[in-house]
Amino acid sequence: MRLLIGVSGGIAAYKALETARLAVRAGHAVRVMQTPTSMRFVGKASFAAITGAPVLSSEFEQDPARGAYPGEPVPDRAPISHLALVERADVYLVAPASANTIAKLAAGAADNLVTTAALAASCPVVVAPAMNNRMYAHPATQGNLRTLEAHGVEVIPPGEGELASYGERGVGRLPEPEALLSVCETIAAHRRPAAGPAQDLAGVRVLVTAGGTREPIDSVRYIGNRSSGRMGLALAAAARARGAEVTLILANVSLPVPEGVRVVRVETANQLAAACAEEFPGCEVLLMAAAVADFRPSAPVEHKLKKTGPDAPNKVELEPTEDVLSVLADRRRPGQVLIGFAAEHGSGAAALGREKLERKRLDAIVVNDISRADIGFDAEENEVLIIARDGLQRHIPRAAKRAVAAEVLNQAQRLREPAQ
Ligand SMILES: Cc1cc2nc3c(=O)[nH]c(=O)nc-3n(C[C@H](O)[C@H](O)[C@H](O)COP(=O)(O)O)c2cc1C
Repeated sequence: MRLLIGVSGGIAAYKALETARLAVRAGHAVRVMQTPTSMRFVGKASFAAITGAPVLSSEFEQDPARGAYPGEPVPDRAPISHLALVERADVYLVAPASANTIAKLAAGAADNLVTTAALAASCPVVVAPAMNNRMYAHPATQGNLRTLEAHGVEVIPPGEGELASYGERGVGRLPEPEALLSVCETIAAHRRPAAGPAQDLAGVRVLVTAGGTREPIDSVRYIGNRSSGRMGLALAAAARARGAEVTLILANVSLPVPEGVRVVRVETANQLAAACAEEFPGCEVLLMAAAVADFRPSAPVEHKLKKTGPDAPNKVELEPTEDVLSVLADRRRPGQVLIGFAAEHGSGAAALGREKLERKRLDAIVVNDISRADIGFDAEENEVLIIARDGLQRHIPRAAKRAVAAEVLNQAQRLREPAQ
């Protein structure tokens, strides 16, 4: 990947150095541009030493490498445009993105090389905000970020915790360099012309659960949920296409099953728990997309309950089911990656997802907001937030479940093989 990094002024500029270093180590060709202010935090010499290429900070400056990325021959002539670097980039990452630079990008200002390049970019632009928590929470900054997203910019939300400035905590922390690089790599991979999916999961055993469990009340009635199984089927198909050995535990799914996938059919939460217990030890990745009942009727009857008469029920007593994911997390062996799914309502969805991630000791959780009727349950599309245990958060804007599945697998792969 040809990665162009635009660095703006903030203490987290030092993390851009580390991001550049990791990218170079991963074999990417990296060039860096800096805002004048950012050079007061980290100098050009450091970026130049790490990337092995000149660093630009002004549109009036001649590029000694004439627009070439490391590893490429330097052209005989200087490019006509000062935008040669961004024209040739696969991904343009602005990190850290200061509140000031974000405001300028949202307004379409082009007053330095970093902002001008963003305006001229035809490649994907990724912006990673980093600032004081009050600056981040300010409606002006939030509005600017929404504007950028509406313009198609990928915004990597900052993490929460200790901020770079001494003694400060809150939301505004630049994600770790590994996470920044992973987002850029994912985006660059999606841009690559299709030559069939990469076989990056060849031989990896992936266990997927899909659908919704049904808990019997009597011989014909049950308590169920609206999960169609589409998300799990998309995960299974995507994993298989990338070379994985896939086992799919299907709870009451009537849709067609992808080819080349081993299927285990279940109905109740109990059966699903038993199937998972059986299959889990043999997998490297568990994707728990099934909607498993939290409660079941405590005394299901084996015949059909009558509408009238002494047998007619006026209430159904419930008892909790086993928490399948927590039980599996307790039995995990090193190297296994567990990814859960959370269907939550409204604005608190992300916080509830994060809480579930920690309580169930998962590696990542995929949260979708079920207050929206157009996505999620029984829909072809989904819009999710993926939260990983290492702090990475990826918002996947509304997309086909197939595209969401691809990103979930990218994250599973990343968590399986953390950057060195
Ligand atoms: C010590 C120090 C730390 C700063 N840290 C940040 C920061 O983390 N995020 C931010 O948005 N601005 C930060 N600023 C303010 C920016 O440097 C300032 O808004 C500047 O105009 C940004 O310019 P640029 O966006 O062109 O790089 C900091 C300023 C100082 C003096």
